[in-house]
Amino acid sequence: MCPKRIVPLGVLVSGSGTNLQAIMDAAKSGSIDAAVRVVISDTPGAYALERAKSGQVPALLIERKSFASRNEFEAAIVAALNEHEVELVCLAGYMRIVGPTLLSAFPNRILNIHPALLPAFPGLEAQRQAFEYGVKVSGCTVHFLDAKVDHGPIICQAAVGVQEDDTAETLRQRILKEEHRLYPQAIQLYAEGRLKIEGRRVLIT
Ligand code: GRF
Repeated sequence: MCPKRIVPLGVLVSGSGTNLQAIMDAAKSGSIDAAVRVVISDTPGAYALERAKSGQVPALLIERKSFASRNEFEAAIVAALNEHEVELVCLAGYMRIVGPTLLSAFPNRILNIHPALLPAFPGLEAQRQAFEYGVKVSGCTVHFLDAKVDHGPIICQAAVGVQEDDTAETLRQRILKEEHRLYPQAIQLYAEGRLKIEGRRVLIT
């Protein structure tokens, strides 16, 4: 029997890192054929960096302000990802718009998770946007990254009902729980080589 191929992941974060934790846990338990090789934060003090250290994963801080341009900043991120032989990049609460330098270094190899059912409610505070709009169903989306914000081909989505006694915060928490299930699932589909991009559509083969 052939040994399983383990996809080396790089995870980009800015904040608390609960999605990072879900991915690391799934990798550790063997429920996905992937391993987190490096975690990169653009934000000092991001709790995600502590999670990485606790998981014995290299944790790097690469700040935008240390570089003269976005290109140089992203070139440093690309260099770190390459140094750790990363194949697939996962954005997990990474609060910056990804530019051409990073995007072109990993063509169709960057995933993002968004806490709404795209194309509804792109951008910041999507859960609050959805709640205040009054939708009865929201959820989360994992998609390939492209040059536009929260726009690339959709891999998978999970729906969450909005309840009468919800607040934006309780809805956020319910969606987050689904995110933790959905992101590892999308990574596993990638690892199994089952994702085929055809225009805007991702076919799961
Ligand atoms: C998640 O809701 C994710 O969808 C969004 O940012 C949040 C990050 O949360 N992009 P965490 O840092 O993974 O806890």
